Amino acid sequence: MRIDVVTLFPEMFRGFLDGSLLGAAQAAGLLDIRLTNIRDFATGVHRQVDDRPYGGGPGMLLMPGPVVECVESVLADAAAGTAPHVAMLTPAGRPLTQQVAEELAGRDRLILLCGRYEGFDQRVADTLLPDQISIGDYVLSGGEVAAMVVIDAVARLIPGVLGDEQSAADDSFSGTERLIEGPQYTRPREFRGLKVPDVLLSGDHSRIAAWRREQALDATHRRTTLSAHFSGAHTPAG
Ligand code: ADE
Repeated sequence: MRIDVVTLFPEMFRGFLDGSLLGAAQAAGLLDIRLTNIRDFATGVHRQVDDRPYGGGPGMLLMPGPVVECVESVLADAAAGTAPHVAMLTPAGRPLTQQVAEELAGRDRLILLCGRYEGFDQRVADTLLPDQISIGDYVLSGGEVAAMVVIDAVARLIPGVLGDEQSAADDSFSGTERLIEGPQYTRPREFRGLKVPDVLLSGDHSRIAAWRREQALDATHRRTTLSAHFSGAHTPAG
């Protein structure tokens, strides 16, 4: 799988991409990640990529020219028949979920478009008609961190990237039910008086599977309740 990142800050990705899992995946030829700087497509002596919004308002917007030309140059570097999937990172996008990550991992080529400043001129989306993805209902100072989140979630789903292929299938939010994984234990059998549940030491695989499922249902239910509890706690009514 090839992922192209279109960004004004390629250097933000270096340590992340060289890190263990992604570094190994790239070295093994499972993943080919390339960085392209929008600034390289800026024109004029000042290589300007942003400007003030028409109609007034705070901040600066990315101008459509350099962004669209940058993405088009990356698109042009595609063999016939392998049209890359273009995804723009924006808080206005569809929420990133495990299901969306699975869908993206099924593509041969992905282009991730990162914004900065107050966002993109609307004509970037109107021209490229990208998939738009948000990593959550909060505003980051740019799409780079969001793109790293997408890359991480997608890369570990590519066959061979995780050592044990089963491990992604067992994760939280996987499978048809998309349950949260229940608690897991390793050695020691007892830590500060806290014991590993007996069932896990029983060697009875069907009992273990039944217990894990029950725990997963519980964890999933508990999180739904927790989320309601904490949102409620922050309202003025308390
Ligand atoms: N850019 C800024 N905030 C973002 C978010 N929440 N998700 C994706 N891209 C973003």
